[in-house]
Amino acid sequence: MKAIRLHAFGGPENLELDEIERPTPVRGEVLIRNRAAGVNPIDWKTCAGGGASAFIGELPFIPGWECAGTVEAVGDGVTDFQPGDEVFGFLRFPEAAGCYAEYTCAPSNQIAKRPPALDVNAAAGLGLAGLTAWQALHDKAQVKPGQRVLVLAAAGGVGHLAVQLAKAAGAFVIGTASSANQAFLEALGCDQCIDYSQANLAVSVRDVDVIIDGVGGQTAIEALTCLRSGGTLVTLPSVTAGEVMEAAEKAGCRALGIRVEPNGTQLAKLATLTEQGKLSLTLAETRPLQQAAEAHQLSSSGHQRGKTVLTIETGA
Ligand SMILES: NC(=O)c1ccc[n+]([C@@H]2O[C@H](COP(=O)([O-])OP(=O)(O)OC[C@H]3O[C@@H](n4cnc5c(N)ncnc54)[C@H](OP(=O)(O)O)[C@@H]3O)[C@@H](O)[C@H]2O)c1
Repeated sequence: MKAIRLHAFGGPENLELDEIERPTPVRGEVLIRNRAAGVNPIDWKTCAGGGASAFIGELPFIPGWECAGTVEAVGDGVTDFQPGDEVFGFLRFPEAAGCYAEYTCAPSNQIAKRPPALDVNAAAGLGLAGLTAWQALHDKAQVKPGQRVLVLAAAGGVGHLAVQLAKAAGAFVIGTASSANQAFLEALGCDQCIDYSQANLAVSVRDVDVIIDGVGGQTAIEALTCLRSGGTLVTLPSVTAGEVMEAAEKAGCRALGIRVEPNGTQLAKLATLTEQGKLSLTLAETRPLQQAAEAHQLSSSGHQRGKTVLTIETGA
């Protein structure tokens, strides 16, 4: 099968298209014939030697933690899925999952069926970002109806899903983005849209119950003043999580880090919300698998709207 592999840590130019053996599913796994794979900041961070690089084992490394496709075969003990099922997943994180490839083996409890209402490319981009948004809002911050939720980087992969999930949970949602993304935030359903290039957050937003922070660092630290007493900030970028939590402690407020976890049950909830018209993934760009390097460049610009997805044509 064809797979994108990294043979030495470095920039996107180090990604190569290789011909390798197709994997075989072991007990509890399914083999997925991928039709698309999602791209996330963790992909290029890991390829550069940061991110999840400590967990991926020896190089070469096939990047990618999320995919959508068709079940080709099932291993022993798998009863929930059968060949021909359309599925999507977020796999094995932070260990290597190998989704930038024509075929990937997936633990059957880390995938969900893809309903017809969920486009295959959107499904490929939904797993990691969708579960991050879900787990930050529900598992970490325990968001409740009527609460005020502030999403920093609301136009990004995680942020645009967090806005919709917070709305679906009955929250009043405030989102931040650049001028170019204000109309997008409105279309997502933000009740209040903040242009971070114009407004001072600390002045324009008060009494927030939950902050989902997709920016980190100084931006997150400054946003702490927006929290009401007893509110919670969940900071996503791991590199700055320590400094944000330290600043929160000094200021007497609550900030939590997060590491998104694979969870097939929660993926199925995201699929249901999509069917109900409450959740929709915006594709920044789709590129063929062969252009993984260009996709990493786009993602690392830090200004993509929604998600970038690699499309995969088996045997092409
Ligand atoms: N800990 C975890 O488990 C976990 C899971 C997922 C993601 N993450 C991390 O969370 C971060 C966000 O992930 P992502 O996938 O959403 O990234 P992304 O899609 O690359 O985010 C891009 C977005 O960030 C916005 N942005 C950039 N600077 C901003 C600022 N100062 N204020 C507000 N918005 C700003 C951009 O909007 P404009 O173009 O309008 O500026 C753009 O839409 C990344 O660092 C990622 O590695 C962590």
